[in-house]
Amino acid sequence: MTMRADYIWMNGKIIPWDEARVHVFTHALHYGSSAFEGIRVYETTNGPAIFRGSEHYERLLYSCKVARIPSPFTVDEYLQATIDVVKANNQRSAYIRPLVFRGYNTLGVDGRGCPVEVIVASVPWGAYLGKEGLENGVDVQVSSWRRMAPDTLSALAKIGGQYVNSQNVVMEARDNGFTEGIALDVNGYVSEGSGENIFVIIKGVIYTPPLGNSILGGITRNCAVTIAEDLGYPIKELTMPREMLYMADEIFFTGTAAEITPVRSVDRMPVGEGKRGPITQQIQARFFGIVEGELADDHGWLTPIV
Ligand SMILES: Cc1ncc(COP(=O)(O)O)c(C=O)c1O
Repeated sequence: MTMRADYIWMNGKIIPWDEARVHVFTHALHYGSSAFEGIRVYETTNGPAIFRGSEHYERLLYSCKVARIPSPFTVDEYLQATIDVVKANNQRSAYIRPLVFRGYNTLGVDGRGCPVEVIVASVPWGAYLGKEGLENGVDVQVSSWRRMAPDTLSALAKIGGQYVNSQNVVMEARDNGFTEGIALDVNGYVSEGSGENIFVIIKGVIYTPPLGNSILGGITRNCAVTIAEDLGYPIKELTMPREMLYMADEIFFTGTAAEITPVRSVDRMPVGEGKRGPITQQIQARFFGIVEGELADDHGWLTPIV
């Protein structure tokens, strides 16, 4: 189904969806010179709310900095744009896609002579790895593609061109009959999924790779760490050999799109009992309880859209 909405925010204004156009010589189209985010607006019991909006827009500004694309807007202006576009579209829940990109002027690889353009889009989007996957877990493979070495691209930033790597990982996985791939880093240690961070649980201890293993510092990753700590589980950042995936009692992915999705097999080998494990279920339940407004938002993660 084509993703769309009635309205979109572009360069400071709400305009009809079909009027948001760019020229085919847009620099970002040729060289991936863009910074973006993925944010969810959840329908809570108190109305729609942006989930961790400030953190997402702070990361967007960081990505712009690394890509040397000056952002014309501040975190507060982006938050307001998000509220405005969700309201214009009359949405109760949405996936928000902010994108800052180099537009049309010249075609040199150094795109700093091109104008900077910005959108904040809000579109409907359900469970990224499938509703069934949220309950039963997904089947994944270790990818033959590695994440970028730390001195090649900026793994900690969400820059458009870098997602060619993620596309390689996910397309290979799907062609091989898996839902997702897990990329190792350049040294062969566990890094992350094409659009998700990864958590591995062994004998009651929760492990996740540190930033140095070429991961994106996920905001949902931070939620999972916080929830695990609140629930009293030991949680450690650890550089992990691939085998820890086969040793695991439970594995789950985190991401704005994937939310908290259990992994039930890796390379056709079952993870634990081959279904969602009890610790994953508890973390998931707390996460969905907070985003749906059923549990107290103790950490101030929701910004109501009023
Ligand atoms: C490569 C990659 N890793 C991890 C994540 C998860 O990050 P977050 O939880 O901030 O959405 C994403 C999605 O943004 C991603 O694209």
